[in-house]
Amino acid sequence: VKITYIAADGTDTTVETQVGNNVMHTALSNNVAGIVGECGGAMMCATCHCYVDEAWADKVGAQIDGEEDMLECAAADIRPTSRLSCQIKITPELDGLVVHLPESQE
Ligand code: FES
Repeated sequence: VKITYIAADGTDTTVETQVGNNVMHTALSNNVAGIVGECGGAMMCATCHCYVDEAWADKVGAQIDGEEDMLECAAADIRPTSRLSCQIKITPELDGLVVHLPESQE
C-alpha cells in the first residue's frame, strides 16, 4: 500500500509499505523528514503528530483513548484531524492515504 506524506512546505513523499505497519514507522524507515517518533510508538511522546488529510479522516477514524491527552504535548497546533501517526495502523483500506506533517515536532 502507498502512503503520501506532505511536509509543511508542501513537499510530498510517497512510500510503499505493508499492511500491519503504522504511519510513524513507515515514515522513519523511509527517511521521511517531519516525523520523529521518539518513544517508538508507545504513545509517550507527541513527536509523531500528523494531520490526516480531510478526504481520509473518516477512514482513519478518531483518536483513541489517551491520544488526545498526548497530543496536547505536541509542538504544533492541534486540529480536528490531528493524530499520533504511530497509532494509525495501516490496513488495505488505507492504500493511498495522505497525511500532512506539522512544521515542527520539537
Ligand atoms: Fe511517540 Fe507516537 S511515537 S507517541
